[in-house]
Amino acid sequence: IKAKALADLAAAADMPALDAVRVRVLGKKGELTAVLKQMGKLSAEERPVMGQMANAVRAKLEEALEKRRAALDAAALEAKLEAEAVDVTIPGKPVEMGHQHPMNRVLQEVKEIFIGMGYQIVDGPEIEEAAYNFTKLNIEEGHPSRDRSDTFYFDDDDSVLLRTQTSPMQIRVMEQQKPPIRMLAPGRVFRKDEADATHSPMFHQIEGLVVDEGITMGDLKGALETLIKRLYGEDAVVRFRPHHFPFTEPSCEVDMQCFKCHGTGETDGQVCSTCHGEGWIELLGAGMVHPKVLEGCGIDPKKYSGFAFGIGLERMAMGRLRINDLRLIFDNDVRFLSQF
Ligand code: PHE
Repeated sequence: IKAKALADLAAAADMPALDAVRVRVLGKKGELTAVLKQMGKLSAEERPVMGQMANAVRAKLEEALEKRRAALDAAALEAKLEAEAVDVTIPGKPVEMGHQHPMNRVLQEVKEIFIGMGYQIVDGPEIEEAAYNFTKLNIEEGHPSRDRSDTFYFDDDDSVLLRTQTSPMQIRVMEQQKPPIRMLAPGRVFRKDEADATHSPMFHQIEGLVVDEGITMGDLKGALETLIKRLYGEDAVVRFRPHHFPFTEPSCEVDMQCFKCHGTGETDGQVCSTCHGEGWIELLGAGMVHPKVLEGCGIDPKKYSGFAFGIGLERMAMGRLRINDLRLIFDNDVRFLSQF
């Protein structure tokens, strides 16, 4: 039994084989166990001799079993380590990295420029009351911008709407804070506009407002020129053009020379598709806060004055990044986005 068992143990190639030998020899119904069970049949003289021998064999086999088990364990571990080994010299697969959306990048640049000038960034509702979007901004009943063909209203009474501009944030801030005020309010706005190269029914504006003693049009021009030169470089061509807004007086619009047709309005004998042949792209509206608006917010227009501006973020990004169609900004085509 001993010789055969030892040979089988040594030959066992894996754990199940080893265990089979153990059960066959040392198990409850095993060969050696059977021998021990028959001890009762032996004479009193034979019993201790046989007993000792059987126990010695058992001890020997158990020792051999343990050794073989340890050897198989070690071999298994070795094989596992080898199989799972990592070859650190194999070149890695490149991971596709995302990055900031180009429009957000420009927003971040604009924010940083104004934060540097002491402005606080504020946030407000996209679903707005007509009172804030129009009335408190001195936009009277019947004004064309209130028209149902321009504005997304929620109810028949035209009291709640998707804000058409970020200017209601001027009111919200002035109702809550006393001068000096320096705020920047970026956000989404909505208008019933047909989508084309420079229009979208949803776009972004960045509202700015400064109210303090002795604020003048010069301060407005300085702030906007700082912005434009930082974004577009010292030699950017922009123009300030008189305009009208009900909530600012005087008012102006700022245009940037079209970067596609360089102000000529034509590309290859065709009307320029980026500026519609205008030669200029409107970037923002601005002006001195109307005294009526200040007064409505409980700010004394005799003591304080202020300026406000509303930047079209997509238009600004188009100029900054040389994108000639605004729709590209919203399409989210990775082939386009990955260029920035
Ligand atoms: N809210 C105006 C617009 O959407 C822009 C503007 C903002 C004009 C602030 C003056 C002052 O066209």
